[in-house]
Amino acid sequence: MKIFLFILVQSFVLLNLFHFHLAGTDHEISQQRPKRTYIIHMDKSNKPAVFDDHVNWYDSSLKSVSDSAEMLYTYDNVIHGFSTRITEEEAHLLNNQPGVVSVIPETRYELHTTRTPDFLGLKESYSLIAASDKASDVIIGVLDTGVWPEIESYDDKGLGPVPKSWKGKCEAGKNFNSSSCNRKLIGARSFYKGYEKEAGRIDEKVESKSPRDDDGHGTHTSTTAAGSHVSSASVLGYASGTARGMAPTARVATYKVCWLKGCFDSDLIAGFDKAIADGVHILSMSLGGGSGTEYHSDILAIATFAATARGILVSASAGNSGPYHGTVFNAAPWITTVGAGTIDRDFPAYVKLGNGQEYKGVSLYKGKQLSDKVLVPIVYGASVSNDSDGAFCLPGSLIPKKTKGKIVICFHGRNGRVQAGLVVKDAGGIGMIYTRDDDSHGEELVADAHLLPAAFVSLEKGLEIRRYVDSVANPTATIIQGATKLGVQPSPIVASFRSRGPNRRTPEILKPDLIAPGVNILAGWTGAVGPSGLSLDKRRVNFNIISGTSMSCPHVSGLAALLKAAHPKWSPAAIRSSLMTTAYSTYKNGKTIEDVVTARAATPFDFGAGHVDPVAALDPGLVYDATVEDYINFLCALDYAPEQIKTVTKRDFTCNSTKKYSVGDLNYPSFAVPFKAESEEEVGATKNVSQTMTYTRTLTNVGAPAKYEVSVSKIDSVKILVKPKSLSFKKAYEKKTYTVTFVASTLQWGTKHFGRLEWSDGKHIVGSPIAFSWSL
Ligand SMILES: *[C@@H]1O[C@H](CO)[C@@H](O)[C@H](O)[C@H]1NC(C)=O
Ligand SMILES: *[C@@H]1O[C@H](CO)[C@@H](O)[C@H](O)[C@H]1NC(C)=O
Ligand SMILES: *[C@@H]1O[C@H](CO)[C@@H](O)[C@H](O)[C@H]1NC(C)=O
Ligand SMILES: *[C@@H]1O[C@H](CO)[C@@H](O)[C@H](O)[C@H]1NC(C)=O
Repeated sequence: MKIFLFILVQSFVLLNLFHFHLAGTDHEISQQRPKRTYIIHMDKSNKPAVFDDHVNWYDSSLKSVSDSAEMLYTYDNVIHGFSTRITEEEAHLLNNQPGVVSVIPETRYELHTTRTPDFLGLKESYSLIAASDKASDVIIGVLDTGVWPEIESYDDKGLGPVPKSWKGKCEAGKNFNSSSCNRKLIGARSFYKGYEKEAGRIDEKVESKSPRDDDGHGTHTSTTAAGSHVSSASVLGYASGTARGMAPTARVATYKVCWLKGCFDSDLIAGFDKAIADGVHILSMSLGGGSGTEYHSDILAIATFAATARGILVSASAGNSGPYHGTVFNAAPWITTVGAGTIDRDFPAYVKLGNGQEYKGVSLYKGKQLSDKVLVPIVYGASVSNDSDGAFCLPGSLIPKKTKGKIVICFHGRNGRVQAGLVVKDAGGIGMIYTRDDDSHGEELVADAHLLPAAFVSLEKGLEIRRYVDSVANPTATIIQGATKLGVQPSPIVASFRSRGPNRRTPEILKPDLIAPGVNILAGWTGAVGPSGLSLDKRRVNFNIISGTSMSCPHVSGLAALLKAAHPKWSPAAIRSSLMTTAYSTYKNGKTIEDVVTARAATPFDFGAGHVDPVAALDPGLVYDATVEDYINFLCALDYAPEQIKTVTKRDFTCNSTKKYSVGDLNYPSFAVPFKAESEEEVGATKNVSQTMTYTRTLTNVGAPAKYEVSVSKIDSVKILVKPKSLSFKKAYEKKTYTVTFVASTLQWGTKHFGRLEWSDGKHIVGSPIAFSWSL
């Protein structure tokens, strides 16, 4: 049985809402060179004896390059070191000081959600998983925009005392005091020093310098992971039902590291540092962004490594659709990287045209409806505007005289969906059809709480509507809001991602790891803004429906808490393995899960191991475990120098120069196999050159003694040989190693093929996706 997690409703995440630009990188008045924030990683063991404490040493190192610089934070868990604001020249000088391991400029991150409004309710009630009783010992740390603690989702009724291991705090601040925490929300902190340096002083009229959530995102993600049971959750009157997080008895600690203008490394690392010290078991991180090209220059990879090394599972969002292939975020192999799928619920809105054709789109519009009999004129935004901004229905671009009483077609790409509708409405329009103009964006159909009758239609349906509008003299249409549909098939469909191709940084590691519900998700909401997040939206709700990989990540965080409760000794890698090897990638009819944009079969490059199946994950049979040493061997295989390994791991380690390390040997529950493609000059000539790759894996038995047999898919282009073909486990936690050899012909650049490898004892299926790619 599949349990459908959580659910709820809808909205989406438009990354571009967050694409504002900070004015320069520096708000400080500085006559000389611009300053920016750097994260300085120190080798604590190299502290000269003259300093009685490492902070004095850090300070002295900093003062040796800049008299005026101050430390923003010192760090002791994620890295040993500090953050500070200095010039590039000073950063160079500092990098050459003794004991300095690395100096990395700060990155700004984005939440992996777009807040566009909406509402809807959930109608499903959720099966309880037995493990959830024990989950009250598990603490989920959420790195996000903070928390709105007054909503019922944080009710602590029935929960025992705070776990004894907990060392965190409930930090008081604006609109937040120690009574804001309870036995559900056991810790709350906020980190803004880096943010203020970059974005200017926080205006406390607009956002609170405290864990209070002024945005909604953090309240939504934390209640998705671990919200208490709320029996009548409804959003603005839409269908009501029961809402609860994945692990309703787990405890939540919130680390507010994201602010209205973004999330910055220095604050984020401070949040990680405290979360590790406080004693969280799971970290949920629905944000990401421009990480460096190597793990040692990627602060998030470093911070997540530190957490993993302490036994904390880090679940992170894979990012939302972007125009580029190979752009999965948070792809380090120690992170559990989560993509988004749809659920079996739909919010249809129908577009009826003057030629009698009807097209289904989506919307959550709740107000006065258009007539389904009387059709009105339909026009392009561009044809009722003086300039090209009209095509996107940008503010001020539509001419009211020409827009009045009409349905307007607005193109995706430069304006938020609800915002575009508002522009149409303000210009006197009475309906909006929102569609993509071309194929370059992978955004799926997300129903928004529009402020006028609207329908978001697919590219394909949009093209048909446009063909009609272009072909007749006086085109007409109407929009009819449909009722919420449940049981929509097929579901899940992969959202947000189009086929992304191989992981650019490490093509031997398949990412994302898996998908979980991320479209139209209902969870708790802030009281600071309305469901659309637009400032003129005066509605206030306890629940809201939004979408994005931001929403799928906390589903997995909560499920990981359940697994941790059921199996307290399991490592983060073992928990991830059980989620991955039990995930499903086909529907009940055997067909592969589809991609929302193409409506064709998605691939492991889109969904990793597949869609999470929490009940199966409780009893995976075997797991692919991995230790810190395995990850260090992985870095050796990437030819990292000792300083680079130290930057990532805080450990002194020199790779064994006579040992053969291989990236493909990292004990990962999935397989990505990059082959060389034929070169352009010799198309055909190299076809018959076969290539061989061998990967080694080790399975740990977490079930009863059993004999497992392997099966692999048959693929024309690649021969797959597994040795041995059966593995007998006589006791619990026994380990057995096998190898898989892939022999492929040399194919054209860009070719991708997929397969699957499964170990089964007749009771468990331990499945791994295999993704082959050919590139130069
Ligand atoms: C904390 O906040 C609550 C609710 O805002 C308020 O009732 C209470 O008096 C505050 N407590 C303190 C100690 O400030
Ligand atoms: C469009 O152009 C006309 C004529 O120049 C002008 O009066 C009007 O304000 C313009 N409208 C918009 C929305 O730009
Ligand atoms: C280095 O690797 C070789 C080959 O695997 C092994 O024989 C040797 O013991 C290793 N040396 C150390 C110091 O681990
Ligand atoms: C590949 O080898 C087969 C059999 O040896 C031969 O028939 C075929 O022409 C070769 N193809 C190319 C492209 O060289």
